[in-house]
Amino acid sequence: EWTIENFIEMEAEKIRTKVGDRNVLCALSGGVDSSVVAALIHKAIGDQLTCIFVDHGLLRKHEADDVMRTFADDFNMNIIKVDAAERFMSKLKGVDDPEQKRKIIGNEFIYVFDDEAAKLKDIDFLAQGTLYTDIIESGTDTAQTIKSHHNVGGLPENMQFELIEPLNTLFKDEVRELGLQLGLPEEIVWRQPFPGPGLAIRVLGEVTEEKLEIVRESDAILREEIATAGLDRDIWQYFTVLPNFRSVGVMGDARTYDYTIGIRAVTSIDGMTSDWARIPWDVLEKISTRIVNDVEHINRVVYDITSKPPATIEWE
Ligand code: XMP
Repeated sequence: EWTIENFIEMEAEKIRTKVGDRNVLCALSGGVDSSVVAALIHKAIGDQLTCIFVDHGLLRKHEADDVMRTFADDFNMNIIKVDAAERFMSKLKGVDDPEQKRKIIGNEFIYVFDDEAAKLKDIDFLAQGTLYTDIIESGTDTAQTIKSHHNVGGLPENMQFELIEPLNTLFKDEVRELGLQLGLPEEIVWRQPFPGPGLAIRVLGEVTEEKLEIVRESDAILREEIATAGLDRDIWQYFTVLPNFRSVGVMGDARTYDYTIGIRAVTSIDGMTSDWARIPWDVLEKISTRIVNDVEHINRVVYDITSKPPATIEWE
């Protein structure tokens, strides 16, 4: 009989047999798939697993700390956190084209990962969170992006890893169930999709520290209010974007000339098509008021009411 408990037992045994006394490396993004794969392999072989978590400085508020708390503190995993924010920011300086930003971030990610991996000794295996659906179509989350890069040969030539892909017979809902069974927190198991390039594609145009901070703070408020309203499971993806323009407003007696925040919230099955979420107006009002009051340099909030197609989910 196929149950999640049996699956864990059987896969753990398979992993132990395959790995023996050798070591496994995993690129952990904090996304659902890479988190579940790390938890499963850790259950099977414990300290023979090492994870590399690249913090590119483009994550959401508290995200890096949350990942470390779960995996380093609660699970007691060997995890190397690479603080690479400066490296990414310097590469992104002066770049405003969306595809260029994606390319730079994707490449830099591989360089950073490879630099760290090269410092480790005696690694024979690379674990990946490939799902059954990833095999038939290309997925979109962070882990998937890492995977596709590695699959096209992003690793140093002197490093020959054998792949371990224990989730490649599972669908997303089964992976979530597995994650819960392995003791991962709900925030990770039900985490909304987050793009590999992170907040860099939600700051439209050139990425600066100040703009990242604006989008990060406003996004945190949005997420808080969506959770408070109990809508976080109904909305497939929700986030704020910072368009690259300013407009006139009035605060107190003074004229302001500041940025606008766009709110994007969509319902979807797989991200291929989507509809804008019908968030109750009073929830939107609260979000707007808080963002304008609490986030510096914002004097206007707009709600994106386009479906995909013709728009995309992200603004870049
Ligand atoms: P779009 O904007 O194309 O987004 O409607 C569809 C889904 O894909 C995510 N997305 C990305 N994920 N790297 C990723 O890992 C990317 O460059 C990227 N661009 C978009 C987006 O968040 C949505 O879930």
